[in-house]
Formats: sequence, C-alpha cells, structure tokens
Amino acid sequence: MSNMQIPTDSTRETFSSRKAFIMAAIGSAVGLGNIWRFPYTTYENGGGAFIIPYIIALLTAGIPLLFLDYAIGHRYRGGAPLSFRRFSRNFETFGWWQVMVNVIIGVYYAVVLGWAASYTYFSINGAWGDKPIDFFIGEFLKMGDINQGVSFEFVGMVTGPLIAVWLVALGVLALGVQKGISKTSNILMPVLVVMFIILVGYSLSLPGAAKGLDALFTPDWSKLSNPSVWIAAYGQIFFSLSICFGIMITYSSYLKKESDLTGNGLVVGFANSSFEILAGIGVFAALGFIATTAGQEVSEVAKGGIGLAFFAFPTIINQAPYGEVLGVLFFGSLTFAALTSFISVVEVIISAVQDKISVSRVKVTLIVGIPMMFVSVLLFGTTTGLPMLDVFDKFVNYFGIVAVAFVSLIAIVSNEKLGVLGQHLNETSSFKVGFVWRLCIVLTTGVLAFMLFSEGAKVFSEGYEGYPSWFVNIFGWGMAVALVVVAFLLSRLKWKDEAEANVVEQGE
Ligand code: ALA
Repeated sequence: MSNMQIPTDSTRETFSSRKAFIMAAIGSAVGLGNIWRFPYTTYENGGGAFIIPYIIALLTAGIPLLFLDYAIGHRYRGGAPLSFRRFSRNFETFGWWQVMVNVIIGVYYAVVLGWAASYTYFSINGAWGDKPIDFFIGEFLKMGDINQGVSFEFVGMVTGPLIAVWLVALGVLALGVQKGISKTSNILMPVLVVMFIILVGYSLSLPGAAKGLDALFTPDWSKLSNPSVWIAAYGQIFFSLSICFGIMITYSSYLKKESDLTGNGLVVGFANSSFEILAGIGVFAALGFIATTAGQEVSEVAKGGIGLAFFAFPTIINQAPYGEVLGVLFFGSLTFAALTSFISVVEVIISAVQDKISVSRVKVTLIVGIPMMFVSVLLFGTTTGLPMLDVFDKFVNYFGIVAVAFVSLIAIVSNEKLGVLGQHLNETSSFKVGFVWRLCIVLTTGVLAFMLFSEGAKVFSEGYEGYPSWFVNIFGWGMAVALVVVAFLLSRLKWKDEAEANVVEQGE
C-alpha cells in the first residue's frame, strides 16, 4: 500500500527549494493569531502557567497534526479536496469543508488586514487623535447598532483599503506558487522579523516594561484545573499553526518528491511559537508602559484582538517617545504578518478550484478572488461589519476548524491509514515518526471532541457576546451548517480531469 504511485501531474507547480517552502509556511503560520491573539490569551489563561498547556498542545497536537497535513498533501499531491478524494473517494467533502472554512476566514481576514494597513498610515498622521476608541468605533467604522438589523451602508474608509488588499493578494496569487507566494514570503518574512525585533527592543526600553512582563508571565497555577484554559491552548495552536484547515495540505502538495517533511515541520512549528512568545513580550512590555504612565494596573489596560490593536496600541503610540516609529513598526508588522497568512488562506481555495476545473492560474484567481472580494465588502465594509466579523471569527474557529478537524481525524483514524501516512513521512524525512505520533493524533481527536461539545453547549445555552439571537443563528450557526452543505454539494460536482482525480490508494 505504501508504494502508491504519486500522480505525476507535471503541470503542478512546486516550491523551488526547501527554504522557499519554509518561508511560505512560516508566512502562513505567523499572522494575527501570533501578534494579537497569543499575548492576551496567555495573560487571560494563567500567564506563565499557560505555557504548560500551550507546550503540551504544541507537542502533542500542533506538531503531530502539522506532520499529518504534510503527509496528506505531499502524498496525494492535491489541494484539500483532491488530496482527501485520493485518500478515499468518500472523503472529498472533508476537503471542501476545509475550503469553505477558508472562504469564511478569507473574507474577514482581509478586513482586519485592511484596517492594519490603514492604521500604519494613521500612525504617521495621528488620525485617531486623543481618543482612539471613539475614533475606531465612530469616525473609522461608523459603527451602527446590530439590534437595528444588518446594514448595507458602506464605509468608504474601510472599503477602499479592503479592495486594495484584495487586489494586492490576488496579484501575488495570480503569479503562482513560486513567483508569487514564495517570492512574497521571501521578502516579507525577513522584513517582518527585523521590524518585530526592533519593536520588541523598543518596547522593552520603555519605562514600566518590567511591570507588563510581570503581569504576562506571573503564573496562576490554579487556572490549570480549568478546562477552558486547555481549550484556549489547543484553539490557539490550531489557528496559529494553520493546521487542519487545508492550508498545510495545499502548501505541502507543492513540495518536491524528496522533501524532509518532518524536518520542515519542526522548523515551522518552533519558529511560529518563538514568534508568538516574542509578540507576547513586545506587546506586554508596551502595555506595562501605558499602565505605568496612566498610573493603572496592567489588568486595566490589557486587551486582546481588536481591542489590543486598535484601542490599546494607538494609546501607547500617543504617549511613547517617537510614537510614530512604534506605530509604523507595530501596524506594519501586523500588515505583513496578516498579508502572508491571508494569501495562504485564499490559496487553499484557488488550488482546490484549479484541481477541480483545470483552468489557468490567472483565470482561477479571478474566478475565486473577485466573488470573495465582493462578499468581503458586502458583509464587512458596512456599518455593521464589526459584529459580523466577531461572530464569523468565533463560529468558524470552533464550529468550522475544530469541527472539520474532528470529523476528518475520525475518518482518517478509522480508515486505518495512519500507518501508511507515517511510512510516507519516514520515507524522505530526517525525524522519524511512529507509535507516539499515531497516539498523539488519536488523543487529539478526543481533545477536539471535548472542545467542540463543551464550547457548543456553552454558546448554545448562553448565546454569544450578547448579540441578538437571530443574528447569531443566521451568521453563526447558519454559516457553520452552510459550510458543510455547500461542501457536500461541491463534492458532487464532476471533475474536469476525472482520470487524475480518480487516482486512489491501491486496494481501494
Ligand atoms: N495562522 C494564521 C494566523 O495565525 C492564520 O493568523
């Protein structure tokens, strides 16, 4: 079985070198998850004590599932649907489900990327003035009340940059894997690392930085008995490493036949976590400074996600010496990190559609990109874009990524193909996998089930963030169910190149 003929599709692009792949994979992994999610998630979930569930999640779920994604993409040489189909005919739906998760992430990720790009510019002209919150909600987003219904009133300051980031990303994607994705990551990743190291050094030099680091790293061991802390660690790892939602399957399908899959995985996994820890240090040093300046506790100024980037950081930038420089470094880093992740998200869809309908790279980029850009503007370029984004983000993470990861792992494990995939990894890799790897995957399947059902029960009974139930039902639950239905329908459509699509494992 392990001698399956990998399809010799000579038209499939490849990354030109190991470095090209690693840069693109790190570019995908390092994104909003690292810069704005990790620092606050750590702080909120036990500080220094959170490092324990985080490392356990990284070693027992993150790295093993990264290897699994690499094995699937590299062995079956396709985007997510084609790879799953070649794995087993009935599994194509899982691939499309992953593609649909990326459709949702893509349409809102672009919005945050557009905001970050705008704020890089605002750091220089100080557009947010003395009250960054009022500016963000009022002048910038012109936020309306979701209780009044969904608005179709477009906000120029948001839609302009949103369309611009779509055009940039589609331009890169139209150039293809090596000339577009790889070249962009090759340029942006080193720039990002240099910018970020300067940012962290600068933040550490601010008065009060130590107070911020104390707040971040002082362990609260009692939190470790709380299951939600463990859920947070696993959730962080899945999103941040870009695993189980098609990205790494797609990227590894562009690797050459002789590739050190597990070696690459270890580099990518540890680079991503190192960046995450660096982000925690930089962000909390800066929060320590603002707390000290305002005579407050770090707990009063610490925020995550949108609050961190668009409320807390502009306040820090207003107060810090050479604040404009800090602003350009922070929002510039956020923009570059988000751009390379966004590109990888859209590539999952492009690759899947290209496999299915066999058209040129430029054509498929337009077929996928233009409707997505349209949906992005329609849903998030309006005065109710923010609550929409919040609900999409929550539901696609738990009832998209975690759900599809759980169901596809059940399918893979019960199909008894873990052995074949492990063998595939070992054929060309430096770090060999075996029983422990398979055990980690089985255990992670259990953890995913727990995450899915405990979070599902909570949101089902309590609602989400006080949003009206019609809104959560349509754009949260409705969206999550629609992903599966559309995925199933897409899997029923005919492949242009049936012969290529029907290559399966021997014995099927
Ligand atoms: N892995 C990407 C991030 O962390 C999606 O933002």
